[in-house]
Amino acid sequence: MTHATPAPVRLAVIGHPVAHSRSPQIHARFAAACGHRIDYTRIEAPLDGFAATLRAFAASGARGCNVTVPFKHEAFDACARLTDRARRAGAVNTLVFDEAGWLGDNTDGAGLLRDLEVNAGAVVRGRRVLVLGAGGAAAGALDPLLLAGPAELVLANRTRDKAQALVARFAANAARADVPLSARPIEAPGSGFDIVINATAASLQAAVPAVPPGTLRSGALALDMMYGPASLPFLQWARAHDAVARDGLGMLVEQAAEAYLAWFGVRPHTFDVLAELRREVDAANAGPHGKDPA
Ligand code: ATR
Repeated sequence: MTHATPAPVRLAVIGHPVAHSRSPQIHARFAAACGHRIDYTRIEAPLDGFAATLRAFAASGARGCNVTVPFKHEAFDACARLTDRARRAGAVNTLVFDEAGWLGDNTDGAGLLRDLEVNAGAVVRGRRVLVLGAGGAAAGALDPLLLAGPAELVLANRTRDKAQALVARFAANAARADVPLSARPIEAPGSGFDIVINATAASLQAAVPAVPPGTLRSGALALDMMYGPASLPFLQWARAHDAVARDGLGMLVEQAAEAYLAWFGVRPHTFDVLAELRREVDAANAGPHGKDPA
C-alpha cells in the first residue's frame, strides 16, 4: 500500500512591493531544519486590493501568511481575533487562518527584542532606550521593549503629536512595567542613550533622522530596523558617533521565527539562517552599488 505524501503547507508574504522579500528563503530554511514541507510564496497585492488578495489566499487552503508594507494596518482590520501585542501595536504582520476566525499577531517587536538581547548580546534592563519614529514599526516595538525593563523609554518623532499619541496608547502598560515613557521632539530627544532604535522611514529616503550628536553615548548600540543599502546612512552615522551599529537583518529573521512558531508550534533555530543571510547582504552591500562592507 502506498501512502500519499501530505501536501506542503501553504504560506506567503503579501506586500507591495514584495519582490525583494527574503521571507521565502528564511522560511524554506526553517522548514528544512524542522522537517516540514512548505510552499511559501510572494504575493504582490494591488494597492487597492489587499482584502480580496487575502481572502483568495485563505480560500486556497493556506495555513497563514505574513503581511508587509503597506498592508499591516489593513491586515489588522481583517482579523477576527488579535493577540494582545497586535492589538496594542495596531498592526498585524502574521495571520493564522484558523477555523475559529483569522488570528492576527505582530511578531516584529518580539523579533527586535530577541535580536537585541540574544544575537547582539545587549542588555535592555536598566538601560536608557530611545525609539525614533512613531509609525507602525515603532508601535510594534513598544510592548516588548517595556517588558524588557529599561530604565527609561523615550519616543522621539518628527511630528511630535504622533509620538504623544503613541505614548498615551502605551501609558498603562508603561505604568504596569514601571518604566518611564515619554515623547520628545526628534531634534531634542535627550542625550547619552545606551540603545537607539531607528524605526522611522527616513532610511527609505537615504536620510538619517535629524537627531543631535550627543544623542548616543559612546559605545551605545544603534539599530536600524532596515537592512541592505537603505540602512547604510544610519549605520554610518552611528559609527561616526562611536556607537555599535546594527541593521535589521537579525530582527527580520527573529520575527520570522516567531511567525513560524504561530503556524507550526515550534520555534526554529535562527543562528545559521542569520549567518547565511548576513553573508549575502554583506556581499551585496560591498558590491558595485554599496560602499560599506559592514
Ligand atoms: P511604518 O509603518 O513603517 O512605521 P509609517 O507609519 O508611515 O511607517 O511611519 C513612518 C515614520 O517615519 C513616522 O514616524 C515618520 O515621521 P512623521 O510622523 O513625522 O511623518 C518617520 N519619518 C519618515 N521620514 C522621516 C525622515 N526623513 N526623518 C525623520 N522621520 C521620518
